[in-house]
Amino acid sequence: MRFIATAGLVAFAASTATASTPSTSSSSDLDPSVWEKLAPVSRPSYLSHARNRPVKRQSGWNPPSELATPLKEVWDHCLKTYSDGSLFGFKNYGWDQIMATNGSINMCVRWDSSSSVTAALRTQIVTALNEQYQKWFEWLYGYDNFPFSKISVNVVGWAVRDTGLLGGNTSDIDVYTNTDSGGVPECAPACGRSFHQDGDYSSCPNGADRHYDQSLWLTDGLNGGFGGDWGQQVGKEYLLGALGSENIHILLHEMGHTFGLDDFYDWTPTGVSNFIMLAGSSTEITEFDGWMLRNWWYELSRNRGWQTSSSSGSNSLSSTTSLAPAATTSGPQQGTAVVSPPAASVTEIPQQTTPVTSSAAASSTSSAPQRDIPVGVCKGRQGKKRRA
Ligand SMILES: *[C@@H]1O[C@H](CO)[C@@H](O)[C@H](O)[C@H]1NC(C)=O
Ligand SMILES: *[C@@H]1O[C@H](CO)[C@@H](O)[C@H](O)[C@H]1NC(C)=O
Repeated sequence: MRFIATAGLVAFAASTATASTPSTSSSSDLDPSVWEKLAPVSRPSYLSHARNRPVKRQSGWNPPSELATPLKEVWDHCLKTYSDGSLFGFKNYGWDQIMATNGSINMCVRWDSSSSVTAALRTQIVTALNEQYQKWFEWLYGYDNFPFSKISVNVVGWAVRDTGLLGGNTSDIDVYTNTDSGGVPECAPACGRSFHQDGDYSSCPNGADRHYDQSLWLTDGLNGGFGGDWGQQVGKEYLLGALGSENIHILLHEMGHTFGLDDFYDWTPTGVSNFIMLAGSSTEITEFDGWMLRNWWYELSRNRGWQTSSSSGSNSLSSTTSLAPAATTSGPQQGTAVVSPPAASVTEIPQQTTPVTSSAAASSTSSAPQRDIPVGVCKGRQGKKRRA
């Protein structure tokens, strides 16, 4: 289940009392039966690397031939269905966030529970967020001028019902006891990227360094999850039970949404049937998932002008460094993406499509008060109601 706000719609301001609790179709990220098909799989970590690294200098679009057709179907579908045909008009994808921060992600945890949290548990959650996000980002390091060789994921704050729930030393985090209009602990909106897409965090109490790009919302008793530009929401019990697992697959799926990837409850692309964004079909990021992520970078970086921009933040790479040879070892790839233009043989993927009008457009402004940015824009072909 994903939703992503449309540009220009300050949806949380429209979170009037009319917003209802999200209704979802039976086939959704929230449907336990979708996920129960999967038994947790732990696999040796040595298997999880190598395939997702560029095997040679790569720029442009050159997926494995058997994936080219389904990838194009997926991208075309996104162009048609996101933001009413204006996919590029939305400006707060995870991509926009990491480009704004020069390659880091600040997160704030919304602890929607009365359980207490030890400092050790907080550390485990930071570790899990990093490890799981790296599984996606390993597909990008060294690919097609992607400017970062390591994206760090930091937890800068926790929102709780009562500060007494947080054990240990909390000097390294901001602790919030705000609630949203639904009564759920919320990190200060003044510090949140989805509320301040212009990057102006001047009202954030402890300064822009303590802003958060995404929330990790952990909710007692929630099955499945939600994901969007605002972050991820999964069940508290699910996440705690999965800490230390190789693949926290519902979190991985929701992180995919944060970086623009779609759900596949209403259709499946040709010839691919197991991938993490097809909920319930894979516990791990597959090659198809990785190339869907790359497809976003390929298209968005060209549309946004990021192929030529030279980010020079601490996490970015010098454009004069050459790409290191493909490694079969794990660990972040050093070096930078090549700066040569895409090969002439690159398959161009159309960036324009006829905007679709949809009767569901109006519903995209309906919102649940507890959402950071509660606007659903990716309406499935069957008009499934996204969490709004
Ligand atoms: C990112 O790098 C650019 C270019 O050096 C710089 O102008 C900008 O201030 C940096 N932004 C952050 C948040 O570090
Ligand atoms: C908490 O940790 C910080 C460093 O992170 C340290 O400076 C401070 O003394 C600690 N406070 C307590 C009460 O231990």
